Formats: sequence, C-alpha cells, structure tokens
Amino acid sequence: MAGAATMSDPKDTLIAAARGAQDQAYAPYSNFQVGAALQFADGSVVTGCNVENASYGMTLCAETVAVAKAMADGKRGGLTAVAVVGSGEEMITPCGRCRQVLYELAGLGGTDPVIHCVGVDVTQDVTLSALLPAAFGPESLE
Ligand code: THU
Repeated sequence: MAGAATMSDPKDTLIAAARGAQDQAYAPYSNFQVGAALQFADGSVVTGCNVENASYGMTLCAETVAVAKAMADGKRGGLTAVAVVGSGEEMITPCGRCRQVLYELAGLGGTDPVIHCVGVDVTQDVTLSALLPAAFGPESLE
C-alpha cells in the first residue's frame, strides 16, 4: 500500500548485512567471496568477510572474522542468528572450523543460533546444533 510504513524482516536485514560484508571480501586466490553477519540479542549486528593470504592455509573465513570482531568488541554470548552468503548460486553452510568457532561464542550465552544459509534462489535455515551435533565445548574440559 502506498505510503504504508514497512517493517523490515530482521532476517532480511541480517542477510543484507552479510551481503554488504561480502563486498569487502579479500579473496584474490579463490575468487570466492563470503560474507557473514551475526545477530545479537541486544539488537547489534557484527559482520565479517573472508580474508585470504598468499600462504593459502592462513586464510580466515568470514564467520571466524565476524566472531573475532564480536569478541574483540566484548561480546560474550547473546548470539541469536547468523547469515552466511557465498558467491555461488548455491547456499553455503559454515565450514567445520567456523561451526566450532560459532559454538564457542553461542555457548557463552547458552543459545543455539539459527544459521541462514543464503543462496540466490533458496535460503535454508538450520540451527548450529544441527550443523555441529555432539560438539566439543568448554563443558567437555570439566
Ligand atoms: N570460506 C568462508 O569464508 N567461510 C566458509 O564457511 C567456507 C569457506 C572462504 C574461505 C576461502 O577464502 C573461500 O571461502 C574458499 O574456500
């Protein structure tokens, strides 16, 4: 309706943030740009992009960069949702290492965030616990 106020869907907003971060990706070796956005319970969003290196194995994934940024900002839990977007048509899920890194931050606040895995046509939503069952975490060290 013309002139009607529009409420933006928080999921769409988070996906847009991940796409914005993807624009900053430094991926000259794989040419596969990834963006990630973390939603926190306090309303804040922290983004990350992949950062590659001439020493290929030093590459940092978008999700890991986002978690590191968030923790450096003092976040300790409160992670409610994550959006991840790759540069192919198909949606991507966080790699194994990123699942573990996300699990640590989420676990600090006892949340099981939903991961929006964004493709061109289809976005699939999956919980972190479904992606990383029987996870190793701080409790495993007790
Ligand atoms: N990549 C991510 O940023 N996140 C993932 O979950 C999977 C892979 C990056 C790493 C590398 O820069 C590029 O995608 C190709 O593997």
